[in-house]
Amino acid sequence: MMTERQILPKSAIVPNSDYVIIGGMGDLSLRKIFPALLLRYAAGQVTNDFRLFVVGRQEINARDFREKLEPHCASLMSGLDGGEGLIDRFMELVHFACVDISQPMSMAGLAETLLPEESEGRPIVFYLSIASSLFSAACQRIHEAGLVLPQSRLVVEKPLGHDRASSREINDELLAVFKEDQIYRIDHYLGKETVQNLMALRFANVIFEALWNNRYIDNIQITVAETLGVGGRADYYDNYGAIRDMLQNHLLQLLCLVAMEPPARFNADQVRNEKLRVLQALRAVSAENVVIGQYQEYPHEVGATTSTETYVALKVLIDNWRWAGVPFYIRTGKKLKTRASEIVITFKNRPHDIFAGDGVTDQEVEIPNRLIIRVQPHEGLRLLLTSKEPGPGGMRLFPSELNLSFGETFNERLPEAYERLLMDIARGNQTLFMRLDEVLAAWDFIDPLVDMVTKRFPLLYNAGSMGPADDLLTRDARHWIDPK
Ligand code: BG6
Repeated sequence: MMTERQILPKSAIVPNSDYVIIGGMGDLSLRKIFPALLLRYAAGQVTNDFRLFVVGRQEINARDFREKLEPHCASLMSGLDGGEGLIDRFMELVHFACVDISQPMSMAGLAETLLPEESEGRPIVFYLSIASSLFSAACQRIHEAGLVLPQSRLVVEKPLGHDRASSREINDELLAVFKEDQIYRIDHYLGKETVQNLMALRFANVIFEALWNNRYIDNIQITVAETLGVGGRADYYDNYGAIRDMLQNHLLQLLCLVAMEPPARFNADQVRNEKLRVLQALRAVSAENVVIGQYQEYPHEVGATTSTETYVALKVLIDNWRWAGVPFYIRTGKKLKTRASEIVITFKNRPHDIFAGDGVTDQEVEIPNRLIIRVQPHEGLRLLLTSKEPGPGGMRLFPSELNLSFGETFNERLPEAYERLLMDIARGNQTLFMRLDEVLAAWDFIDPLVDMVTKRFPLLYNAGSMGPADDLLTRDARHWIDPK
């Protein structure tokens, strides 16, 4: 049986590394980080020479850890090469350390294990899978244990503050110990295969890029719809809301990738420079261009009346030559009808219709060309074209579709976002991670929006609907293109 490792392209090889997951028994670690490492182990990118450290406040042993991890891996493992013994072999890479990061020098013991190998320049990845209020202490412990080496990397994830000022403060704490080029701020949307494919679509093909501007594009819609509610995360979510939880990061990142200029090279600084330019060109949103909503059952789930939004929709304008006048309608919400993330590019109508009148056709077909980029699930691209209906009866036009399903085309499992991101960190590639100036520019756009909506009560919507923002488009004589 051929394992994935044997067919890895050279460019996929990742240097042997150490991952230190601080908060390793937490939800993120068990649900995302370790399952992703296991999948990369099955693929051969993580080798038997990696070391994975679960760092937590409590004593923990391999058996308990495995018991907690396995339910999150069961469905992933079916169909994987390596079969039964895979998790046994993987567990041999996993080590445990009990560290109370509030106590000075509490990482000294861990440093003793790590340092002999690190002296050879082996990458060491510190993943802070803990609340941001503990970041500063964790960085201090890493620093005083002598573990901030040139090859050390620090990984953090949102929530990194709730506005620009608090985000700056948290980032300053990280920057007191690590340099910007050692800090990996995860936005897991950037790790999704289709999101990277968006860059391939735009910058590895000429046909779309030539049309990618206000001469040919009428409007762009970005929808990130979820069917789940807030579930057990109500405490976090109610302080945060859809604007900070989804818009500030995932949706703005998608918008940047759609709208950015082609960078000269596909490298971390150039890609991030271009995304930053988009964020800086966003026009402040006026009150009539934002709609917030809340699903009916939400107060019940939180256990109190609350004005936190579980849905937000915006009309965004980008003040630059490429996009002047093209509205970007973006929306995200919980408890909606379908779970789907989609970017819909609607092109302008043909400037003149040669088929109208003259008895050539008896029907008006006003379906503009549309490119639909399906981010998840059922990743792929659809291009809506107008064709002639076969057979006699004149030039009868009808909408048709070119359909590229990535799943069917590549006939293999698309890796999870965390798999890609975790490997990029060991490789030292920051392209798919957010730079501080991007994060702050996103907050510059979000802060006034949050101030504006805190004065309102969200519109209530039914679970299973597509949210309460139809008017945002109908008043522009447009409508939302809902995911199919
Ligand atoms: C997270 C948000 O960042 O992204 C969650 O905090 C949300 O509220 C999740 O559910 C959505 O991610 P995905 O990958 O399931 O679309």
